[in-house]
Amino acid sequence: MPGQADHQAHFDEVIARHDRIEPRDWMPDAYRRTLVRQIAQHAHSEIIGMQPEGNWISRAPSLRRKAILLAKVQDEAGHGLYLYSAAETLGVSRDDLVAMLLSGKQKYSSIFNYPTLSYADVGTIGWLVDGAAICNQVPLCRTSYGPYGRAMIRICKEESFHQRQGYELLMTMMRGTPEQRDMVQESVNRFWWPSLMMFGPPDESSPNTERSMAWGIKRNSNDDLRQKFVDMTVPQAQALGVSLPDPSLTWNADRGQHDFGQPDWDELFAVIRGDGPCNTQRLAHRRRAHEDGAWVREAASAFAAQEEPGHG
Ligand SMILES: [Fe+2]
Ligand SMILES: [Fe+2]
Repeated sequence: MPGQADHQAHFDEVIARHDRIEPRDWMPDAYRRTLVRQIAQHAHSEIIGMQPEGNWISRAPSLRRKAILLAKVQDEAGHGLYLYSAAETLGVSRDDLVAMLLSGKQKYSSIFNYPTLSYADVGTIGWLVDGAAICNQVPLCRTSYGPYGRAMIRICKEESFHQRQGYELLMTMMRGTPEQRDMVQESVNRFWWPSLMMFGPPDESSPNTERSMAWGIKRNSNDDLRQKFVDMTVPQAQALGVSLPDPSLTWNADRGQHDFGQPDWDELFAVIRGDGPCNTQRLAHRRRAHEDGAWVREAASAFAAQEEPGHG
């Protein structure tokens, strides 16, 4: 029987060669706990993230926009399911994870605690929020835990559709009336800073980043990803004809990157604590949906029990 030291050496060796750890492999407890927390938080974000845009499905301005938005919101539900399944391979149950979301013990992305006030927000969320999610998630396709990385590959393909539909919606509005252009600008003004917050606090106040990177769970630091997002987004904003609400945003030729201002980090911490504009509403809606869906879960379990006689 291999001892603890052999297990650890094998794990370290897999990580060092950038290979995948699979569910049946030995892994350090802290690695498992970190993954459960990160994947669950990610799954919760997909599910809660259905709400801000779902709010506009019944008021979409055309059948085409409604079909696009429905498809997008359904994709997010699917992302949640892939991710809950990936978390379950680590030995936790989806029921327990959902209970931790509903009780507030586990978090979801702070961005979904902001309201959607106009249809332009559907476009801005696709462009900026799904755009930031793509920057965060593309490196996760190479994360060291196999089921998580494979879930991310599927998710990223759909996220790029989300980003494009948002950009296309905004482009259409920018070609419209002055009122439509104002709606887009007002929406971008509200979502710009919260989008930058999606990458998490600055590296110096993100104590777990270093360990997650050593384990190959994270491949880039928060600040690196934020920089990448800004550099990617500025030319897109120019093409759209919107301005980004940051007076210190400027090209730095020496660095070959943009300089930009920092979001209000106190605001991020307040939203994470539960004091964002929509935290209470989002969780209350999720709890109600969970209760309303109880009969579906009961029926599905009863059906599964009938299908497999002898399996209890
Ligand atoms: Fe998603
Ligand atoms: Fe998305």
